[in-house]
Amino acid sequence: MEKKIIIAIDGFSSCGKSTLAKAMAKALEYVFVDTGAMYRAIALYFLRNNIPFNDTASIEAALHAIELRFKYNSASQKSDMYLNGENVEQEIREMQVSQKVSEVASIAAVRDFAVAQQQAMGVDKGIVMDGRDIGTVVFPNAELKLFVTADPTIRLERRYQELLQTNPAILKEEVAANLQQRDLMDSTREHSPLKQASDALVLDNTNLDRAQQFELAMQWAMEKIKSIPNE
Ligand code: DC
Repeated sequence: MEKKIIIAIDGFSSCGKSTLAKAMAKALEYVFVDTGAMYRAIALYFLRNNIPFNDTASIEAALHAIELRFKYNSASQKSDMYLNGENVEQEIREMQVSQKVSEVASIAAVRDFAVAQQQAMGVDKGIVMDGRDIGTVVFPNAELKLFVTADPTIRLERRYQELLQTNPAILKEEVAANLQQRDLMDSTREHSPLKQASDALVLDNTNLDRAQQFELAMQWAMEKIKSIPNE
């Protein structure tokens, strides 16, 4: 039987990481984990409960009260994020969460909380996880690390088109400002900032469609899987 590996996919906001990760997990029959959804659900809990982002005691107490779970949705054929038993998949994608999530994700206690759960999900390998620190912090020994990039104007257009579907009134300027702000915060924060792992393969999808990107990444994954000797 083929060896199962860990595939870590990192990169800036809206460069197609989750789409790629999901497709690879499906093809390989691996578990897919969108770690951004976890930070978004935590941010939603903090916003709903007015947790001050600078109050360590309130943050610690809040984290103890949060249970995160992914549950497969057969209708959409993807996993939905559940926060304390409630499906929050739609709400965590809304702008009020997007505007605060980077700030919440920069809190050390929040990262420790999320990273511990992410690492537990990978103990049996056979997982494709996407985020910002997967190849550097969560799984520094992942067999395959991808760093996905795309031209900022392409990323903006993709994200804008995606958000338009649920919010026809959204302005492109608003989306652009949010992307810029998150990129900056995610890559300059003190704890586990977004950065390319030294052993990551760069996948620039500016001129690739989804199928081409998938093909290239799968080629790398299969090479890696085949290179692992059976014990
Ligand atoms: O991938 P996304 O846009 O849904 O992620 C939401 C936010 O969560 C993003 O602004 C940065 C943060 N994040 C993080 O800090 N570390 C991760 N592993 C995943 C996401």
